[in-house]
Order: sequence, then structure tokens, then C-alpha cells
Amino acid sequence: MIEIKDLQVKYDDFTAIDNVNFEVKEGEFFTLLGPSGCGKTTTLRSIAGFIKPSKGSIELNGKNIIPTPVEKRGLGMIFQSYALFPTMTVYDNIAYGLKIEKHPKNKIHDLVYELAQLVELNNEQLQKNVSDLSGGQQQRVAIARALAKKPSTVLFDEPLSNLDAKLRKQLRAELKRIQRENGMTAIYVTHDQDEALEISDHIAVFNNGKIEQIGTPREIYDRSATEFVCNFIGEANFLGKPLVSYLNDHSPARRFDLDAQHYIREEKIKLWAPEGSDAVPVKVHVLDEVFYGTFTTYSCQFSDTTLKIMVKEDGTAAVESGKELTVYIDPKDILEYKGA
Ligand SMILES: Nc1ncnc2c1ncn2[C@@H]1O[C@H](COP(=O)(O)OP(=O)(O)O)[C@@H](O)[C@H]1O
Ligand SMILES: [Mg+2]
Repeated sequence: MIEIKDLQVKYDDFTAIDNVNFEVKEGEFFTLLGPSGCGKTTTLRSIAGFIKPSKGSIELNGKNIIPTPVEKRGLGMIFQSYALFPTMTVYDNIAYGLKIEKHPKNKIHDLVYELAQLVELNNEQLQKNVSDLSGGQQQRVAIARALAKKPSTVLFDEPLSNLDAKLRKQLRAELKRIQRENGMTAIYVTHDQDEALEISDHIAVFNNGKIEQIGTPREIYDRSATEFVCNFIGEANFLGKPLVSYLNDHSPARRFDLDAQHYIREEKIKLWAPEGSDAVPVKVHVLDEVFYGTFTTYSCQFSDTTLKIMVKEDGTAAVESGKELTVYIDPKDILEYKGA
């Protein structure tokens, strides 16, 4: 288990992260998520040992590792840039750390082949120079190299951001598989909320050097604790006061504070009342529709509120731009944020 307690890091006078607390259980995939500059890398590099925090502790299985040098922490690391040796073969890159530790040759050989298989690099690719591989293949080499010493915990800093969208999706599923199959603990940094939702057991959402919420992907998405988290994760409609008042007047189920901020996610608004729900019918004007293949979004107007509604199901032919439409909003799906 890794426990981060009250961590603070300063770069001269600038406090990059403050009051950062979280724990990562063994075998867990834990993600640090947030926009660029919010302190994710600073936190990860502190765990790795490259940065000395100005406050707080980092405990690995109950032992504070802040005085422990990088190479003695026994953590695997994979970064956005691959940091491979370009003129060496793939085989030698993966074997590098093992050779330095003077493992027997046949043992290194077996391990390299095992790792290559794990990250799906074939024998032919193993003999190539790293510079002759594609970006995706190079990142596979980096992953294999980081796993060579069988670290129980691996730190990832945006390892897939340099890859194109399709490859990124494929490799992220593979990373998750490798992590699970090997029972590794992963601490993973990304600014991509879809990626975080897809691969994480728990997510810590960072904003401005602080953690706003820690939770499972479902908790973060369905019960975003702050307005920042609500807007950073997924798409949410902001509800103007006239709509919130309307809901108050038409729903006995929940009363909203008109001084608070209210949101609802695009896919929570329905075109029909789900059976047995307290959904409130709301008459809106359809402004336009955008077809995305697997789903369609409709922009609709109610007073000063523009609602985007995401519809997956077919049979929505009744929705026409310029026409009136009744949509259904369940008060329980509304996220309410009080205070500034
Ligand atoms: N070596 C450094 N010296 C001064 N400021 C830094 C340094 N590294 C990062 N920062 C600042 O600390 C903040 C957090 O950076 P970082 O941890 O890299 O964020 P992220 O990885 O979330 O994009 C940013 O404002 C960044 O400009
Ligand atoms: Mg970073």
C-alpha cells in the first residue's frame, strides 16, 4: 500500500501541490487526473523520488520512503517520451536493467521473450533497432523495459499521449490487462477523462495543485463532488434559474436551492419518462441535431437554458428541429453545488 499524506511541493516560492492525501491499495489502478499544470507530474515524481517534498510523507507499506533514493524505491516508471536507447535493439533495451544487475544470460533471455510476448512484440521486432519502430511499438518496448525488474508498483506519466487516438485506445486496454494479469499496482497520470474512467479503479481529480475528489469512476461521474469535477468529467448542461424553478414547482421529489449551481449530464435527459421514476416532463424547443454514428445529440431550449441531450437509441424520428418536444428530467440526476 502507498500512502501519500499531506504532501506539499514548492518550486522556489511557488506551491505546485498542497495538502495532497491519498492511498493506493495493492493491485489497484489509481489515476491522477486533471488539466495541464495542476500538479500530476509533480506528485508522481515525488513518489518516484525525483522531487523532494517540502512537507508531508510518502509511505510504502508503512515505511516513509522520502529519504530513499530513486533506484532503491523499486518502482517501475513509464513516461510520455519513451526514454529508450534509439541505437540499441529492442532486445537490448528491454534487457538493459537486467544486464546491469548481472542476471545470468539465459535468465535474461527468457525474461525478455516473456515480456515481449506480454506487450505483443514479435521475435523479428526484438532484433530491430528501436528507432525503426513506430511510436506505438516504442511505447510497448518502454512498458516491457519498465516491467523487466518485476516491480510491484509502476508509475505512468501520460504514457499514451504521443500516440494517435486509435492506438491510444488499444494500448490503454492492453495496459489494463497487463496490470491486472500481473497483479501490479499502477499509479497513472493523465489529463484525458475518458481514459481515466475506462482504466481506473480509483481516480483522484486534481485542480490547481489540490485534490478535489477521490472516488471510483462511477462516483466521480455520477456524484461529482465539486463544480470543477462535474465540468471536467464528461459533458454537463448548466441549468438556468427558470428551469430550476420549474423543476421545483413540478417535482415533489426534491427541492433545489435557487442560490446554488445546477447541472445535468447530457445522457440523463430522456425523451420518454422511465417507468416508475419521478421524472418531470419539460417542454423544450428543438434547435438542432448532430449525428455522431453511435449516438445523436439534440440542442433544445427552455427559457434561458440550452440543453444538450444525448440519445443512443434509434426511433427518435419524432424529434425535429424547430418543433416543440417534451423531455424528461429526473430530479435525482441533478447535481447541485452550493457556495462559490
Ligand atoms: N521544475 C519546475 N520549476 C518551476 N515550476 C514548475 C516546475 N515543474 C512544474 N512546475 C509548475 O508546477 C505546476 C504543476 O506542474 P506539473 O506537476 O508538471 O503539472 P501537470 O503534470 O499536472 O501538468 C505548474 O504550474 C508548473 O508550471
Ligand atoms: Mg504532467
